[in-house]
Amino acid sequence: MFGKKEKANGNDVKESGSSKPQPANEQEELRNNLAGVRKKIVVLSGKGGVGKSTVAVNLAVAIAKTGARVGLLDVDVHGPSVPTMLGLQGEPLSADSSGKIIPLVYGDSLKVLSVGFMLQNKEDAVIWRGPLKYGIIKQFLKDVVWGELDYLIIDSPPGTGDEPLSVCQLIENPEGAVIVTTPQDVALIDVMKSISFCRQLNMPVIGVIENMSGFTCPHCGTTIGIFKGGGALKMTVDMRVPFLGSIPIESRIAIRSDEGRPFVTDGEERSAANGAFDDIVGKIMKYDGGKI
Ligand SMILES: Nc1ncnc2c1ncn2[C@@H]1O[C@H](COP(=O)(O)OP(=O)(O)OP(=O)(O)O)[C@@H](O)[C@H]1O
Ligand SMILES: [Mg+2]
Repeated sequence: MFGKKEKANGNDVKESGSSKPQPANEQEELRNNLAGVRKKIVVLSGKGGVGKSTVAVNLAVAIAKTGARVGLLDVDVHGPSVPTMLGLQGEPLSADSSGKIIPLVYGDSLKVLSVGFMLQNKEDAVIWRGPLKYGIIKQFLKDVVWGELDYLIIDSPPGTGDEPLSVCQLIENPEGAVIVTTPQDVALIDVMKSISFCRQLNMPVIGVIENMSGFTCPHCGTTIGIFKGGGALKMTVDMRVPFLGSIPIESRIAIRSDEGRPFVTDGEERSAANGAFDDIVGKIMKYDGGKI
């Protein structure tokens, strides 16, 4: 992918394919490159802005905190949020002697890769059609030094478009999808599309998370159901997929995201969202292909 001497970030990145022999079988190369990755989990949603990246980032950090080896791949080509949420914007990428990209490291060990690391300015827009997106996602899986991992968490853009489709088609034996929604009917209708998308692609559904599920006033303790609640749980029963839990709205979550500090890393400032999230992480880590 990136030649030995090429810098792997910045808009001047280009293919070094002319100097490298083309692989006889790219799918074989991809399979070999991911051979050390035990569990691949894709985070999906039907609607935008429901908290996929927040869930993906905090899930990856929370699992890494248990001592597991974790990678986080952001395949949101048009709106990569992972660099900001982990405070890694502007960090340079490098390549190993074979030209494979070395992911950045967050904390002690979390390996992170995002298309956002390849943009010179975070305001830069990427204007790519489907085949180009498929190509870069394939490279993210095939030409990156993922090494030995217990989990690879993949954050996707909303919907059932090119990026989630490419990921689901390219990775073999995925552990499954974690689907994020919010409680409104408009979000729930679209999450059902995500579930049928997974079914069509033989992607197991690990479960559904209802995010932004009520707001508990930090002053008086009253819970306000900003959006009507409970719809996701009912929908999962109707669709026969596991319900993983609900995460409340907390301003701290959004503030921490903007500061590049995942809310699961807060030691003393634990809240209802932390309790709910710990429970969800436990269920995902226990998932073994059966019912949760
Ligand atoms: N439970 C929550 N409480 C408060 N703010 C939240 C919560 N979950 C997410 N947010 C905030 O909502 C915004 C959208 O979240 P996020 O970027 O994770 O959504 P997304 O589904 O990944 O969006 P996109 O579809 O654009 O990729 C962010 O500012 C995030 O910090
Ligand atoms: Mg996102």
